[in-house]
Amino acid sequence: MALHSFSILLLPLFFHFILTSAASRSSDIAGGVRIWPLPALVTHGGQRRLCVANTKDFRLNTDGSNFTDASGILKEGFLRLLDVVRVGHVVDANLSRLDSSALLLGIHIIVSSPSEELQYGVDESYRLSVPAPAPAPGKPAYAYLQARTVYGALHGLQTFSQLCSFNFESRAIEVRSVPWNIIDQPRFSYRGLLIDTSRHYQPLPVIKKVIDSMAYAKLNVLHWHIVDTQSFPLEIPSFPNLWLGAYSKQERYTTADAEEIVRYAQRRGVSVLAEVDIPGHALSWGVGYPALWPSKDCKQPLDVSNEFTFKVIDGILSDFSKIFKYRFVHLGGDEVDTTCWRSTPHIRNWVRKKGMNESDAHKYFVLRAQNIALSHGYELVNWEETFNDFGSELSRKTVVHNWLGIGVAPKVVAAGLRCIVSNQDSWYLDHIDPSWEKFYLNEPLKNITDSKQQKLVIGGEVCMWGESVDASNIEQTIWPRAAAAAERLWTPYDNLAKDTNQVFARLAHFRCLLNQRGIEAAPVSGLGRSAPWGPGSCFVQ
Ligand SMILES: *[C@@H]1O[C@H](CO)[C@@H](O)[C@H](O)[C@H]1NC(C)=O
Ligand SMILES: *[C@@H]1O[C@H](CO)[C@@H](O)[C@H](O)[C@H]1NC(C)=O
Ligand SMILES: *[C@@H]1O[C@H](CO)[C@@H](O)[C@H](O)[C@H]1NC(C)=O
Ligand SMILES: *[C@@H]1O[C@H](CO)[C@@H](O)[C@H](O)[C@H]1NC(C)=O
Repeated sequence: MALHSFSILLLPLFFHFILTSAASRSSDIAGGVRIWPLPALVTHGGQRRLCVANTKDFRLNTDGSNFTDASGILKEGFLRLLDVVRVGHVVDANLSRLDSSALLLGIHIIVSSPSEELQYGVDESYRLSVPAPAPAPGKPAYAYLQARTVYGALHGLQTFSQLCSFNFESRAIEVRSVPWNIIDQPRFSYRGLLIDTSRHYQPLPVIKKVIDSMAYAKLNVLHWHIVDTQSFPLEIPSFPNLWLGAYSKQERYTTADAEEIVRYAQRRGVSVLAEVDIPGHALSWGVGYPALWPSKDCKQPLDVSNEFTFKVIDGILSDFSKIFKYRFVHLGGDEVDTTCWRSTPHIRNWVRKKGMNESDAHKYFVLRAQNIALSHGYELVNWEETFNDFGSELSRKTVVHNWLGIGVAPKVVAAGLRCIVSNQDSWYLDHIDPSWEKFYLNEPLKNITDSKQQKLVIGGEVCMWGESVDASNIEQTIWPRAAAAAERLWTPYDNLAKDTNQVFARLAHFRCLLNQRGIEAAPVSGLGRSAPWGPGSCFVQ
């Protein structure tokens, strides 16, 4: 089966088609489009369906692809797809009774780039089609998936998995409403989720499950807030006493664990953005190296007057650069309270001798840390306080991470810097009050009209701060609200619902799909992490 080559330039021409099919999309769960996040362009047929061949017969065909799949990343993605579409029921249909023209025998995937490198800005577009049954007697059909990179192909497989459903009469997996034609690509390159392993340790399998669920929603950056005031769980070979700041010996990550998280995420199209939050939020560093504390009575921010502080930061970022290959490293920089610098005589004297005041010293710290990160080949992310306090002096390679409130992104991009949007009133998952509607409606480009400035908003991130989540409740606090943000960050603006009533049913369907796949996503209605309000179908709660 041959399709015309895919050009992104054609995309805008197609938008009005999908808008005209919006009515069926919003109301009809069974037969209509229920993909989450909604693709850029979808068309589909009516009553016809194809039966998905049994596992042992359902094939991956990569003929004609430039991508050789030497590491098996695509094959693994394909096998995972088979698992998730079959996990819900025992598929015991006798397909040999079926006319072969009603059978979908596999997916033909063509990837044009031979590279497996996952990096910021990687092409994630794909084009997926599932044909109608051939006029009998026909050849068994293949779905056709075309992508520039293997990561676009993985997104296409996720979309395909959402087209599949179990037929309770035939006991087979089928794709209804064929033929399908989908052309898709993300609106933003950075679609993040923060996890915080300092406030509570998260075991490796928990982090991996979070990564699995991110891939279902096409989120693509795991922002790993590894260490903070409360604990330092990660091994740092350059300074081996740092992880003495862990809660316990058991609650630690070896460098091999960290590499495994990066590898696991990469195989699913998810990059890992590592963070050290300095100079505040770093008390735990001094458990292993007390010289990093201003004094034993006043323990943060890190001692700005001590050269050793910057040696440790250099060691950490040097070790990071061997594990975390994403273009950016996050240097934190939020909530810096310099009282300890003022109250500690040797620091107060140092600040004065340098002809600085406390805010100068804070700036000196942030800019010096930026230079260290740059020397290890990273571009930088800093929380917005650094921009609010001395934005014009930050490296031009800084991405400003908004969190305090709305209205920051317009200022950041007007200053010519890049921005990630995470305003806490809408995109903080640890805040239980904001509803999924609030998550859905938070628009990163609000009040930014200049198209050059719009491009500087590289995306957004929902933040799962760890004070009140551990392995027992992290999934239900992340989902389903993170999915609402995921659609905001993936789907073209014109396809997004202005009225959230139009998307409730589709989001509820996605939440039930997560549950079916073993993810403990909470009910959609109600606040974050709420229990079901009473007996009832998953699809209405
Ligand atoms: C499946 O159906 C075919 C054709 O009707 C029949 O020959 C075969 O025995 C069936 N197999 C099973 C396992 O029921
Ligand atoms: C394979 O790569 C070549 C060279 O970059 C390119 O011309 C061709 O279109 C690619 N093939 C596919 C199927 O994308
Ligand atoms: C600190 O000093 C700088 C000049 O070096 C000045 O611009 C700034 O206002 C001072 N900040 C405070 C809080 O005094
Ligand atoms: C957009 O601008 C309006 C008018 O200045 C302001 O009231 C509103 O809070 C802004 N919204 C965001 C999200 O920045």
